[in-house]
Amino acid sequence: RIIDWDVETASKEGYPHFMIKEIHESPKAVRDTISSLVSDLDVVEKISEEIRQAERVIITGAGTSYHAGLYFSLLLSREGLTAIPLVASEYYNLKGRKGDLVVAISQSGETIDVLLSIRKLKSEGAKIVSITNVIESAIARESDYKVYMRAGPEIGVAATKTFTTQVATLLFLYSYTFGKEWKSLKEADKEVEQAINLTEGFTKRIGEELSKKASVYYLGRGLSLPLAMEGALKIKEVSYVHAEAYPAGESKHGPISLVESGFPVVFINDGEMPELLKNNVMEMKARGGKIFTISVNKKIGEADTEVFLSSKFPVLSISPVIQLIAYYAAVSKGLDPDKPRNLAKTVTVE
Ligand code: G6P
Repeated sequence: RIIDWDVETASKEGYPHFMIKEIHESPKAVRDTISSLVSDLDVVEKISEEIRQAERVIITGAGTSYHAGLYFSLLLSREGLTAIPLVASEYYNLKGRKGDLVVAISQSGETIDVLLSIRKLKSEGAKIVSITNVIESAIARESDYKVYMRAGPEIGVAATKTFTTQVATLLFLYSYTFGKEWKSLKEADKEVEQAINLTEGFTKRIGEELSKKASVYYLGRGLSLPLAMEGALKIKEVSYVHAEAYPAGESKHGPISLVESGFPVVFINDGEMPELLKNNVMEMKARGGKIFTISVNKKIGEADTEVFLSSKFPVLSISPVIQLIAYYAAVSKGLDPDKPRNLAKTVTVE
């Protein structure tokens, strides 16, 4: 069974596609989501307490939501927690127990793999926190704690604004839990807006170039890796360009063998490890790779095209940029990015 939003009731409001309309709605989606979290700090406090006390935090999701979860698991691991990212459909590989806290991430709240993963882990003793965009969705109903994003309906099949609100929500929970500066997230929507406004020209050019390629690598390190994975997924989903994401440092252990003159490599540089990434850029360049870099706060400076932004929240600035690249790649191939072949917005079969 496949559930989809009713496209008839939503309007494109002058945009050619829902995907681009929804990318442009991301700042508002983030603003509404953060203010909703701020207005319900009791729930945030309870979840933070559960995270601090958990023996293990298991983060489950599918597709784009899994990438948001992977990002969260890295944040928690860096604080010394045992955080396990779980591709929801692989739930049978993990035995839950008392002391486990599961964070289930799902835009629709209906994805069967995620539902089955929380049911299994709950039956084994775990507590469940859900982060969904649909009030009283199946996953929310079966959770001990519910967090709702306020992204509004998303019609485009490939997730855009809801990924950005997922990472904003997770960043908020993380910052609150570990005594970081969470109040500045109230201004996070401005970073998203700026990223969209400043990069439309670049992303269009990069998207057009990538659309002519058979294959592309997306590379990143640390917190940029989930973004590289999401960038690769997005372009694959809507433009049918084969894309593979890899940890940049690991790329020399195999993937580099495909790199020859003109092979495109997109580097995601959130500003944390520009020197290490630069080494990887040089390796790819030496083989003739065509290098695109999306850099925040610190440049790499060796790319054929470098998109540069300053931001307090690199993840929130990079998110719309990788989506815009995928959108323009699809459009320049004459494809409808809202309805990619073979994909459904919500998958309710195993
Ligand atoms: C489908 C969609 C993806 C989405 C995934 C998870 O595969 O095509 O865009 O990321 O489901 O959906 P969810 O609603 O659980 O976030």
